[in-house]
Amino acid sequence: MLDSLEIITLMEDSVSMEGHFIAEHGLSFFIKGTKDGKEVRGLLDVGQTHEFLAHNMRELGISPQSVDFVVLSHCHYDHTGGIAKFVESTGKHDFPVIANPALFRPHFVATPVVAAKGVRTGDEREAIERAGGRLLLSGAPFPLAEGLSTTGEIPRETGFEGPGNRFFTLRDGEVVQDSLPDDMGVVARVKGKGLVVLAGCSHSGIVNILKRVRALFPGEPIDGVLGGLHLVNGTEEKMEKTLAGLKEFDPAWIACGHCTGFPMQSKLFQTFGKRFVPLTVGKKFVVGA
Ligand SMILES: [Fe+2]
Ligand SMILES: [Fe+2]
Repeated sequence: MLDSLEIITLMEDSVSMEGHFIAEHGLSFFIKGTKDGKEVRGLLDVGQTHEFLAHNMRELGISPQSVDFVVLSHCHYDHTGGIAKFVESTGKHDFPVIANPALFRPHFVATPVVAAKGVRTGDEREAIERAGGRLLLSGAPFPLAEGLSTTGEIPRETGFEGPGNRFFTLRDGEVVQDSLPDDMGVVARVKGKGLVVLAGCSHSGIVNILKRVRALFPGEPIDGVLGGLHLVNGTEEKMEKTLAGLKEFDPAWIACGHCTGFPMQSKLFQTFGKRFVPLTVGKKFVVGA
């Protein structure tokens, strides 16, 4: 377990009144875990545009050279944009980039017109490796440090969650629906607090993600939940069922933004009161010690 955990929002769709940050549709979190006086530092996702991420990191005093690893929550361009440039900026060789093996598949929508939504040209496997990255691709929970790991793939249990029928991929030349099999989160175990769960867009569903976390660490309380809930176009029924599911896990705090959508943020505030915090660039969370 970690003695303490610090999370800083590096990229998000909005900024607060403080700081000189750049906001863009995308998400990136800085994660710092401390154990026995030693620090581990990683990123979950890198947003969409490397120059904007680099700007926000400079403003926050976080140097890319100090980062030990990056986890990519799923293939979307607003989470993986500029990953090769970020890896290059660390100046490291064999820099760990952790993701699902399906990350680099073709991934696109056809509404309103065909458009690629997955990993962009310039961020493909070879570009990441040329920049000094070492891809560690696994569908299983991946250990990042003591008390810090990915969730691995998320079983789709709830029935009401999932990405719907908007996304497509190619399999043996055939166009088939894409269920975002690569969607995953990061979970931290903090001494005296419990579990902190970080999600990208929650395309597999935040309730499914929390069920996965509970199955991995049975009996441990959920302290915090962060990320995008992808309910920006969610139906009333889906939002209400998600709220009911979240309440069952009874997190001490919940911080959502990005693709969560204002109606769901509003419902989260009505349900959880001050336990809910909207995400903005620069928003910092400290857990434990
Ligand atoms: Fe997203
Ligand atoms: Fe996404």
